[in-house]
Amino acid sequence: MTQFTSDRLLLFGATGDLSRRMLLPSLCALDAEGLLGSHIEIIGTARSDMDDLGFRNFAREALEQFLPANRRGGIAQFLNRLSYQSLDANDMDGFHALAEKVGTPENGLSIFLSTAPSLFEATIHGLEKSGLAGPNVRIGLEKPLGIDLASSKVINDAVHHAFPEDRIYRIDHYLGKETVQNLLALRFANLMFEPLWNAAHIDHVQITVSETVGLESRVGYYDDSGALRDMVQNHMLQLLALVAMEPPVSYDATNVRDEKVKVLRSLRKVDVAETVTGQYRAGAIGGQAVPGYDDELGKESDTETFVAIKAHIDNWRWQGVPFYLRTGKRMPKRTTEIVVQFKDVPHSIFTGRGARTVPNRLVIGLQPEENITLSLMAKVPGLDRNGYGLRSVPLAITTPDAFAGPQRRIAYERLLLDLIEGDQTLFVRRDEVEAQWEWIDAIRAGWEEQQQTPKTYTSGSWGPSAAIALAERNGVTWHE
Ligand code: BG6
Repeated sequence: MTQFTSDRLLLFGATGDLSRRMLLPSLCALDAEGLLGSHIEIIGTARSDMDDLGFRNFAREALEQFLPANRRGGIAQFLNRLSYQSLDANDMDGFHALAEKVGTPENGLSIFLSTAPSLFEATIHGLEKSGLAGPNVRIGLEKPLGIDLASSKVINDAVHHAFPEDRIYRIDHYLGKETVQNLLALRFANLMFEPLWNAAHIDHVQITVSETVGLESRVGYYDDSGALRDMVQNHMLQLLALVAMEPPVSYDATNVRDEKVKVLRSLRKVDVAETVTGQYRAGAIGGQAVPGYDDELGKESDTETFVAIKAHIDNWRWQGVPFYLRTGKRMPKRTTEIVVQFKDVPHSIFTGRGARTVPNRLVIGLQPEENITLSLMAKVPGLDRNGYGLRSVPLAITTPDAFAGPQRRIAYERLLLDLIEGDQTLFVRRDEVEAQWEWIDAIRAGWEEQQQTPKTYTSGSWGPSAAIALAERNGVTWHE
């Protein structure tokens, strides 16, 4: 791993939506806490014609809109760090001007690239030719990085031409979320879960990422992508890998990613009958009427906005344990959670007394609330004259209660800081991405072969009824 803390940060796509909503607010918040280093300079670049002042004004508006009021203290100081250079990625002269603007960083340069896929190769080429890809430069790559294995290889090859893997930081913003990292603490900093974390004791796992938003303003991108590529290929498979991986030797980039990739390579090719796709129609969410996907898009489309999959991991630990994955837009509520459903006790001593045991369940809520709940069986207090009572009671940790001090951060704060400081642990390695695409491509190929088109579902519902049936066929109910 290359060890240097960058004193320049170059943001491609600096006037885009991600920059406004996430990157600039994250950087400003880090700066206010003194975490960016006193000399750091941030250079924004994009196609828009703007000067430094124009970019600072743009950034101020974004910060006032997207930073919570209690984190706006450092705006003035932060704006002073910003400068801007407009760039047409197809114009080589532009890159030379950009290199001049960036200057010669004393310690190193970090680049954050979130750019249209069509400009990707030209951008990497421009960086290389203008001297912005030297040994003291690392590059963060935001998705989409391809639409399948073949196109992702083309992109990765292009990047590798200019940067070695240990200077490439592929972003999956879910890995920047505190509770996602907490999954590792839960599994590997406690003794009690690991001995039970296998097929002998776990019945199944559910991973749900539901959103209330629809297409938003991403018409061009989303309709070519769909839920499988947009959410499952990256975020959900990363969650699955963290839940299922073997204990890494240590918490570092090589060991953690070595274990994740083994899981991703163990994913069984999915049978189309074990998938359900859907597309939302008009409905209501939280009492608000919302239009259907085809209305928002302005045309008919076969793109899925919902997908449910029964996945299997073919290794010793997980043989016979289904992983139910589901994600969708325009669901009744925004939630990301992982449910680990344990098996029932092998023999209940209470049956003769008329009491029933309910298998333990661990629910890890990632958002909007961060909490961990373990359901345990307990005796109902009393003298039991009318029969012995057992009830499932929750043992719950709510992060804001357990940790009163630390504030909730934007996932990109963590990732940008790790990029600047050079820690790859929470970034996705090429072999992981390729294993993810391989599995996803096979699902898409199955859909095409069997001409599976999405079923419709009403906005505000939990997707097509077939998704409920997918789980219920095995006696499983989705946790809601
Ligand atoms: C993005 C997807 O990667 O993740 C979006 O492209 C989705 O479609 C978003 O809305 C969800 O992120 P979060 O952090 O809001 O759960």
